[in-house]
Amino acid sequence: MKVSLTDLILVVLWAVFKIARPSETQEDNLFRRTAVKDAIFTKGLLFQDTARSLVGCARKCATFKCCLTFTFNKVNLPRSCRGHSTWNMTLEDNHTHSPGTKLFAIEDKLTPGPLPADCAEAMQRGARCGVRQLRVTPHFNVTAYCDDDWTVFQRRQDGSVDFSRGWEDYKNGFGDPTGEFWLGLEAVHQMTTPPSDRSYELRVDLGDWDGDTAYANYSNFFINSESSNYRLSVVTFQEGNAGDSLGKHSYIPFSTKDADNDIAANESCAIMYGGAWWFLDCHDSHLNGPYWFNSTLPGDGLGVFWFDWKKDLRHSLKFAEMKFRPV
Ligand SMILES: *[C@@H]1O[C@H](CO)[C@@H](O)[C@H](O)[C@H]1NC(C)=O
Ligand SMILES: *[C@@H]1O[C@H](CO)[C@@H](O)[C@H](O)[C@H]1NC(C)=O
Ligand SMILES: *[C@@H]1O[C@H](CO)[C@@H](O)[C@H](O)[C@H]1NC(C)=O
Ligand SMILES: *[C@@H]1O[C@H](CO)[C@@H](O)[C@H](O)[C@H]1NC(C)=O
Ligand SMILES: *[C@@H]1O[C@H](CO)[C@@H](O)[C@H](O)[C@H]1NC(C)=O
Ligand SMILES: *[C@@H]1O[C@H](CO)[C@@H](O)[C@H](O)[C@H]1NC(C)=O
Repeated sequence: MKVSLTDLILVVLWAVFKIARPSETQEDNLFRRTAVKDAIFTKGLLFQDTARSLVGCARKCATFKCCLTFTFNKVNLPRSCRGHSTWNMTLEDNHTHSPGTKLFAIEDKLTPGPLPADCAEAMQRGARCGVRQLRVTPHFNVTAYCDDDWTVFQRRQDGSVDFSRGWEDYKNGFGDPTGEFWLGLEAVHQMTTPPSDRSYELRVDLGDWDGDTAYANYSNFFINSESSNYRLSVVTFQEGNAGDSLGKHSYIPFSTKDADNDIAANESCAIMYGGAWWFLDCHDSHLNGPYWFNSTLPGDGLGVFWFDWKKDLRHSLKFAEMKFRPV
């Protein structure tokens, strides 16, 4: 086969076009305008900066996995660029009108294929933080919240969801992954017990009513099957200023108000303390406890509780979140 000069030139032109084109296309698909009227938002603010151009602002946002939206003001100098960790902002969210400030959303770029098995896989395949469908098994999908590689499976923040529930609800999950929720023991069991020798770490994030935060992380996290009553693994405390209030719950089955698997002799910890947990006799921590709207608990350990942070049996937390990722 002979290659003519014209063919060669065409091929070269095509190659130049192809090489020049992708970056443009990527930029075009990096973000899109959203419909909200000119406004500055405070919700989920991640950074507040300036940028020389819209694309520069988009790129700044895109460097953070959890920057989902940004506002850019190209009218007033210096041009403000603010990144947010939240989707779908509306004018009901805290905002001030600011002519020329437009809201944009960074596009989620999950590569085509089956649903990701967990958030770590989703991130590897180009996804961004936020609510996501995950494929726990071929016959079982869940909607979870991805915080970078972390699959979030529990959150308390405003008392909007009732955590005083029975076994079926704790098994299958409840609530809203953008707000307060429990992903479900069965899903977490399946996701942390894959047919491989992968191991998972657990991270607990806490917040109090004064705006202080603390965390604790653990290695060797998994949840056993329902036949063991979703027994917690022997979690090993690594570090964190919240201290270790979960280690003692290692190898303990889960209890709800209608399934008393605790080791307290006569009574049900779940009934005494509300919510559901890996109760012994009864607890060092109880992040599914009743939600109080201030830091003072009406009884010892009777709320969203993690003893080792405050070392105070009557201290109630404002925020709690639990999440895991493969090591
Ligand atoms: C934004 O809101 C729309 C409509 O309420 C919804 O269909 C869409 O899934 C939301 N997007 C995200 C990323 O949450
Ligand atoms: C709204 O934003 C203002 C200014 O940043 C802030 O002081 C106020 O606490 C916010 N209110 C709510 C409800 O988030
Ligand atoms: C899981 O989600 C995938 C992709 O959205 C869908 O094709 C599949 O039918 C879902 N499976 C179940 C059991 O819901
Ligand atoms: C715990 O957190 C620290 C600090 O973020 C990190 O260096 C360490 O690898 C983490 N370990 C585990 C097991 O999560
Ligand atoms: C449990 O109940 C039995 C019989 O009612 C009683 O003898 C025992 O003292 C109780 N134990 C505790 C720890 O309350
Ligand atoms: C804390 O909030 C509860 C209601 O959730 C209320 O009954 C109690 O009086 C409050 N305590 C303080 C010290 O404000």
